[in-house]
Amino acid sequence: MDEHQTAPATPGELPPHPHLTVPREGLRSYLAPGTEPAPAVGVGSVAGAVRSLVGPRQRAAAKVVGTRLLARRATRRLAELHGRGDRLLLNLGSGTYNAAGWVNIDLWGLHALWGVHPDVVWDLRRPLPLPDGSVDGVFLEHVLEHLPAPVGLAAMDQAFRLLRPGGVLRVSVPDFGRYAVDYAARRSGNQGADLLSVVRPGRPTDLLALAEVVYDHGHVSIWDAETLTELLRAAGFVEVAVSTYGAGRVDPSPDSPHRRDESLYVEGVRPA
Ligand SMILES: C[S@@+](CC[C@H](N)C(=O)[O-])C[C@H]1O[C@@H](n2cnc3c(N)ncnc32)[C@H](O)[C@@H]1O
Repeated sequence: MDEHQTAPATPGELPPHPHLTVPREGLRSYLAPGTEPAPAVGVGSVAGAVRSLVGPRQRAAAKVVGTRLLARRATRRLAELHGRGDRLLLNLGSGTYNAAGWVNIDLWGLHALWGVHPDVVWDLRRPLPLPDGSVDGVFLEHVLEHLPAPVGLAAMDQAFRLLRPGGVLRVSVPDFGRYAVDYAARRSGNQGADLLSVVRPGRPTDLLALAEVVYDHGHVSIWDAETLTELLRAAGFVEVAVSTYGAGRVDPSPDSPHRRDESLYVEGVRPA
């Protein structure tokens, strides 16, 4: 059946959500293997071909090995950047989004297919070869949910070590708290924050849309404002507070526009 979210509700079902206009995909086609959305740029077929040939575990292992092989070059590059004595801002887990004015750091991988090269290739699970207190700002955008929570805390510890007193850590993640509230509201027949239909429209059910935030894209942890705030406090940060898109303490803003709708932003300061 071609379920459409604006179709009238039958008895016992939720009424249609007033803002939903995207037809719901059928469950069978949604669950068919190999139906991950292709990357936006015209390299989707190349990346898709690589993905179909190499499983996620092998891809992850290849990234770690490639990153290790480039460790000496990365160490030299970081020493050079530090030696300049300029303000140092680190965008950790930059992916295909290089923030202007920031040193963009990621694993070795397929970013080159998108024409994007991180400034430095490094595995965040290892200590970055920079002195304590040598950095002015650290940013992680949609990276924490790719790390198990204990590894996420270790990443916050590393940011704390790297930052100078007064330096700022800014973290952005998919706001699972808002997604969950939206889901619960819609189950009760209320409008909710409309996050599910704005960011993940057309899924066969709201639960499958919610599950994408938990399980898809290589996610291994979920975050809400309370938990992320506590994570930064546990690492020793002070003045920890929820922020908004583009409103961070560090200029230039590293926030990427395509993350705006679903993101939770939290900042903290390394105390003196
Ligand atoms: C969803 S992407 C986010 C990319 C970019 N920050 C953005 O918001 O568009 C997550 C990124 O984290 C990187 N990442 C995950 N684990 C990492 C690790 N251990 N070391 C370095 N980068 C890592 C991945 O390679 C990937 O590029």
